[in-house]
Formats: sequence, structure tokens, C-alpha cells
Amino acid sequence: MQTVLWIPDNHPPLTKTYPDTIIRSLPLAAIIREATNLLATGELVAFPTETVYGLGANALDQQALARVFAAKGRPSDNPLIAHVASLSQVAMLSDQVPTIAWELMSRFWPGPLSILLPALPTLPMQLTAGLPHVAVRMPRHAIARALIASLGHPIAAPSANLSGRPSPTTPDHVLTDLAGRIGGVISSGACEVGIESTVVAIDENRIVILRPGQISGGDLEQLGYTVRYDAGLDDRDVKAVPRAPGQKYRHYAPTGQLTVVIGPDEKMIDYIQSGIRKSRAANLRVGVLYLAEEHYDEADLSIRLGVSRQSDEIARNLYSALRTCDDQMLDVIFVEGLPDQESFRAIGNRLYKAASGRVVQV
Ligand code: TXA
Ligand code: MG
Repeated sequence: MQTVLWIPDNHPPLTKTYPDTIIRSLPLAAIIREATNLLATGELVAFPTETVYGLGANALDQQALARVFAAKGRPSDNPLIAHVASLSQVAMLSDQVPTIAWELMSRFWPGPLSILLPALPTLPMQLTAGLPHVAVRMPRHAIARALIASLGHPIAAPSANLSGRPSPTTPDHVLTDLAGRIGGVISSGACEVGIESTVVAIDENRIVILRPGQISGGDLEQLGYTVRYDAGLDDRDVKAVPRAPGQKYRHYAPTGQLTVVIGPDEKMIDYIQSGIRKSRAANLRVGVLYLAEEHYDEADLSIRLGVSRQSDEIARNLYSALRTCDDQMLDVIFVEGLPDQESFRAIGNRLYKAASGRVVQV
């Protein structure tokens, strides 16, 4: 299949080329029109959101949803998030919206928060994977909202990566995984947040975080309700069963073996430096993802996740860094441990999954 890469006028072209891809540079309004036509005929269009690029399909079209699972190689028991452009579109997905959900919407939408709502019984099975709830989010990105409004239906959109690869935060990432497998991609540079939305459920009068994201437990508590994390979220407990099916997979996994090293700076740096020497002695390619200062000039590759120890900046850079590790064919990757603060919880969740439990405390 041929994939159309739409580049809005005045945006820079991509630096790499991709197979089965044609480039169309057009005014944004024309791009939205063409992309809407593809979606309306059941094709898939990847588009930018403030979190990561999404792989969009008409959320009410079963065949289009089936194509999403096929293009990504996604397990069929993992439900999708339905994206809306207005509150009136919520009614196309649920007719039992709890008061807390309305309060969350008015406080955090448009933005990186997905809310589980009781699903209308008529919704396609693939959208909810047969679960009683549907996840709904109103993205903040103007292109995402324009596309959904133009289609007139909610758009189901998982992250636009092949299953098991890091989520895409640039159009290059999308095309690396999906060129030739989808109808089109709307290019809009790098995503602002860089990790996926916070996913919450509402149990009685409590908010339960099923997937941590930039909107933290502390942010959610501002509404005055009790907030807790899903007990199945503990990334270091292999027996825990998460409520968001996507949390059980080994997501975001680089091909190299990734280890997170936690401890006081001096010990952590020592441990990583000696790991680098051992890896090199064994003829392995070794890389480091570090937080602030470089101490690793013997590594084959070192990437700074942020100039500061600020979670927003690290979140924005994380997936690109993991993809670079793959591109550079690293065998071994060390990551400096993150500060033990709530604002780093979402990044830690992604990293611990990528590390499959290899967390060393020094
Ligand atoms: O930021 C985001 O959320 C991005 C952008 C494109 O909006 N989308 C995204 O979708 O990350 P995806 O499919 O990669 O992740 C959706 C997560 C999965 O962990 C899935 O299991 C969970 O949300 N989820 C979706 N619907 C659910 C439901 N009805 N019940 C429980 N978990 C659900
Ligand atoms: Mg995903």
C-alpha cells in the first residue's frame, strides 16, 4: 500500500526517505480534507497529538478497527482509546457519564487524560475488546481536534508504532514502523509531552490510575476525590494483573538489554562505568541514557535525556532515545535511575517495562 506523508505548508521536509511513501505538501485545511476522506473510507491515518502520534481509524467502523490491529500487530485483547473533538461526541460512546468524569473533563480536557466510561452496548467489539468500559480522551493538539471534528465521529487511536516498539513522537518514527502499511501520516514535528496519556477509571467516588502520565496523581487530587494507583500497576511485581490490558505487555522495549541503575550518584556512576568496561571487554556495544552530566565517554553511545532533572523534558526525549539505541544496535543499555518523586512515576513506568524488571539498586 502507498502511504501519503502530508506536510503542511511552511513545515520543513523530513530528512530521511521511506519506502512506499509519497509526499504531499499542502495547506493544512487541504490536508485535513484529504485525511478525512481516507478515514471515511475505512483507511488509517496517523496524526499528531500532544502526547505521541496516534494511528487513527473511525472508532465506529469495525473494519477500520480491524485494520488498526493488523497494521500494528496488536494483540486483540488490548482495547483502544476513542478520541473526541467536543463534549457532544462523548454521547456517541457512553450514556452513563459519572459526575466525577464530567469534572475531570472540565478540568483536564483538552489534554493528556483518558477516562474510562461505561460503553454503549452498540460500540464495536474491537474498540473495547469486549470490556464494559470505553476509554475516551479529547486531545489538545489542534490538528488532532480538527481531524476528529472534520470526520464527525470519534477516532480510535493507539500509538502509531508497531506493537512492542517505543511510541512514536515524530513523523519519522511513524514512518519507520508503518510506511506502506497505512493510508497516511500528517506531519507536525515532535510531540510536546512525549509519553502517552494518563488513563483513569472511576470506582464509586474514587479515581484509579490505570496508566500514569503527565497528569499525575497529585494533579487529579486537586478535584477533592481520593486517587489511587491500580494495584496491578506495580512494574516490579510479576504477579500483579493490571486493569489496563496494555500494561501487561513488555512495551517500549529496545532490542538491547536495558538496565536501570538506582542509587546515590557516585555509586550509580561507578556501577555504570564498570558495566561499560565489562561490556566492551566482551565485545558488546554499550550505551547510556543519563540525566544531567556526562560521565561515560567510554560508552559507544551516550544520550542525555535532559539538561535538567525535569520530568517534562525527560518525557519528551525518552522514546527518541530508546529508538536511537535500536538504530545504533546496542547490546547493552544502562539508564541512570530517576529521582523518587511522583512527577517521575510515568517515566519510571515506561522505563521499568523497557527494562523487564532489570533494576539494580547500588
Ligand atoms: O496518549 C495516548 O493515550 C495515545 C495518543 C495517540 O492519544 N494513545 C495511546 O493508545 O497510548 P494505546 O492504545 O497505545 O494505549 C491505550 C491504553 C492501553 O494500555 C489500553 O490497555 C488502555 O489504554 N485501555 C484502553 N481502553 C481501555 C478499557 N476499556 N479498559 C481498560 N484499559 C483500556
Ligand atoms: Mg501504545
